[in-house]
Amino acid sequence: MNINTAYYKSIAKAGNLFLPVFTSTPLEKEDFFSYLPDTAKDTLVRFAKECKRGEGEVKTLRLFEDGIKSIVLFGMGAKEKWNARKHVFIARRMVQYAKGESIKEFSVPIPLIRFEKKSLSETAKVFAENAILGNFAFTKYKEMPKEGWPEVHAVNLLVEGGKTAEVLLGIREGAIIGEETNECRALANTPGGDMTPVLLAEAARRSVAKLDVRVNVFDEKKMASLGMGAILGVAKGSVEKPRFIILEYLNGPKNQKPLVLAGKGVTFDTGGLNLKPSNYIYEMHMDMSGGAAVIHGIAAIARLKLPLNAIGLIPAAENMPSGSSYHPGDLLKSLSGKTIEVLDTDAEGRVLLSDALTYGLRYKPGLLIDFATLTGAAHVALGSHMSAVFTREHDQKLQDTLIEVGLQSGDYVWPLPLWDEYLTEIKGTFGDLANVGSRDRYGGAIHGAKFLEQFAGDARFAHIDIAPRMTTIEGEYLAKGASGVGVRFIVELAKSYSRIMSHES
Ligand code: BES
Ligand code: ZN
Ligand code: ZN
Repeated sequence: MNINTAYYKSIAKAGNLFLPVFTSTPLEKEDFFSYLPDTAKDTLVRFAKECKRGEGEVKTLRLFEDGIKSIVLFGMGAKEKWNARKHVFIARRMVQYAKGESIKEFSVPIPLIRFEKKSLSETAKVFAENAILGNFAFTKYKEMPKEGWPEVHAVNLLVEGGKTAEVLLGIREGAIIGEETNECRALANTPGGDMTPVLLAEAARRSVAKLDVRVNVFDEKKMASLGMGAILGVAKGSVEKPRFIILEYLNGPKNQKPLVLAGKGVTFDTGGLNLKPSNYIYEMHMDMSGGAAVIHGIAAIARLKLPLNAIGLIPAAENMPSGSSYHPGDLLKSLSGKTIEVLDTDAEGRVLLSDALTYGLRYKPGLLIDFATLTGAAHVALGSHMSAVFTREHDQKLQDTLIEVGLQSGDYVWPLPLWDEYLTEIKGTFGDLANVGSRDRYGGAIHGAKFLEQFAGDARFAHIDIAPRMTTIEGEYLAKGASGVGVRFIVELAKSYSRIMSHES
C-alpha cells in the first residue's frame, strides 16, 4: 500500500474522499472545505446535516463527478467520549470499508485525523501504521480470486502547502512499523508444519538480510556444548531440531548497555506428554509469536536506524509428545546451573526461555525483557485487550514506563505482581525450581513470571506475557489470525530506551 501526501488544491480530483466526523464537526469550517468544487460543497453540507455521525456509523454520498466520485463520512460520535485507543481504529475502519467496496484509493484531510494536539508527523505515523495493519490479510495459502485480493493500493493524506516534509516523515515511520508488524503476523500465522525451528532461523536471517543486523544461529550441538539443557529438554520429543537465534543491532554509544529482547519461539506447542486437549492445541503454531515479534521488532528498529544497541534472542523448539519427549519429573540442568523440575511438560515456554535469559546476561543488559505467549492464565486475568507486564517489586519507574510504552504504541500492557510470596510456590522438591506452581493453579501467569525472574540475575528485568493478545479480536478491524503483538511495543521501547537507562532503578 502506498501512502502519499497531496495538497488541498488537488481535492477536486480526490476520487474517494473519506472524512472522519464527530457529531459536532462543522465541516464547512474545516480548511479543506474551501477547496471543494461548489456543487460538492452544497451537497456535502446538506448530507452531513442529515447524518447522525454516531460512533461506528458509515454514510456514503455518491457524487458521480469526474473529480470526486464519493464522499464517505465515518461517524465518531461525541467528541467528549473519544480517546486515543479509539483513534487508532479510524485508518483501519477506512481501509476495511474500502476493501468491502472495492475502492483501491482514497484521500483524507490530515486535520480530521489529528488527535488532540498531536504533531502532524505523529498523526501521519499513526494513520499510516494502522492503514497498513488494516490492509493485511494472510493469503499465501489461498488461490487468488479473478479480481485479485480486496486490498487498498493507495491513500493520499491531504495537507496544507509547506507541511509535506513533516507528514512524509511520519508516514515513513508508520509504514515501517506497520509493514514489520504485518511480516510478524505472516510469520506467526504460518502453520507449524511449515515453520519449524530451523525454518524460523532462516526466516530471521531473511528478515534482516539487508539491514545492519548480525545474525548468529546455534544448532543443537553448539547448545549442548554451552549447556543449554533447558531448551534441549523441551526439544527432545520432536524430530525437528532446536535452534537458538541471535540478532545483534549495535547502533548506540559503544558504552551503552544493550536492550536485550528474548522471544519465546515454540513453533508448535502440543503440550508434550501432558498433551493439550484438542480445542487447546488449535492455534498453537502461533506459540512462537514472541520470537516473531523480536525478529521483526529488531528489523523495524534497524530500518528506522534508531540509535541504540539491541540484541534479540530466540530459543526455538517444537514441543511434541513422543518416545523421546522430556517427562514430567525430569530434572533439567539449565545454562544457569539451576535445575528445573518439570512438573508439567506444557509449561515449556518458561523452561526454554530460562536459557535465553541466562544467555542474555552475557551482554550485560541495561534492560532484559522477554515476550512470550506464556500462559492462558494471563488471558483469563486480563481478557483480550492487553498483555500482562511484570517488573521487579521495587522498580515502579520501569513499570510506569512500560505501561506508557504500551499506550503510546498500541500494544497495551497491564501490570501483575512479582512478589516474593509467589516464589515459595515454585520451589522444586527434587530440583531448584519447579516449572509450575505446586499448590494449585491459581496465579499461573505470576508463577510463570516469577520462574523467569530467577534467571535474570541482577539485570533490570521485565516479562511481557502476550498470550492474551496472540490473535486479533472482533472489533479491532484487523484480519483474523496473529495480531503481531510486540513489534510496535519493541519500537516504542527502543525509542524510550535512553530515558529508561537514565532512571536510577
Ligand atoms: N503456549 C501456552 C500458553 C498459551 C495458551 C498461549 C493459549 C496462548 C494461548 C503455554 O505453553 C502453556 O501451555 N501454558 C500452560 C501453563 C500451565 C501448564 C501451568 C497454560 O497456560 O495452561
Ligand atoms: Zn505449553
Ligand atoms: Zn507454549
